[in-house]
Amino acid sequence: MDRDPLIIGNWKMYKTADEAERFIHELAPLIGTAKAEVGLAVPFTAMHRATEAAKKTNILIGAQNMSDYREGAYTGEISSLMLIEAGAEFSLVGHSERRHIYGESNEFINKKLLRALADDIRPILCVGETQHERDNSETPFVLKEQIFKGLREVPKEDAEKVVIAYEPVWAIGTGKAATHQMAQDAHELCKEFLFEFFGKNDVPVLYGGSVKPENIQGFMEQGDVDGALVGGASLEPQSFAKIVNFEVKR
Ligand code: PGA
Repeated sequence: MDRDPLIIGNWKMYKTADEAERFIHELAPLIGTAKAEVGLAVPFTAMHRATEAAKKTNILIGAQNMSDYREGAYTGEISSLMLIEAGAEFSLVGHSERRHIYGESNEFINKKLLRALADDIRPILCVGETQHERDNSETPFVLKEQIFKGLREVPKEDAEKVVIAYEPVWAIGTGKAATHQMAQDAHELCKEFLFEFFGKNDVPVLYGGSVKPENIQGFMEQGDVDGALVGGASLEPQSFAKIVNFEVKR
């Protein structure tokens, strides 16, 4: 794939609007020469201020979740139209915390993904197996199911608008990242499934799960790793900048 690598920070439920603004002002000068496309998935309440702060930079601002509806009587939800107005260019869908803590199913995640595509928000579909599933050799089955069900009804022409993030659940927030080889093997699988689904290979696959400045290089040297989704290590500008400024060797 000839695209620039994509590195996204997922702030989860951290950072007020003030903190987001300060972070972006600190980060921008540290990543001026980065070869990667950089994004931040920020809390809804920080989105507008984050977009304003990121205006003269190349940093993309996105959401961590969105509604499957455009508007309506859905108390507590945030729609694609609201996200676009606040400046969001992408949204995570199906993050493992949404799947496992809030019970989001593949079917529900698919509806969100189709809504995102319909309204020009780039969806980043998160997939990944639990430790139990890995121990039972179910990883290929789980990844195939999450990819096929998550992308259901996405037309081939929209393949290039989608991003996949492979995030093994056991590696998220645990400090126990996948080995570089494990990530490569899982990414290769994801790409096979994506090829089977779309009949072409246009979808970048990011790795997520305890990515840090110390291990980013090895991930990015793998042939099928097109970028990273970074949680904990994206909360501090210096550490996130070190990840974004990894040395391009490929
Ligand atoms: P982590 O989180 O980098 O803190 O493991 C990754 C994620 O949840 O996207």
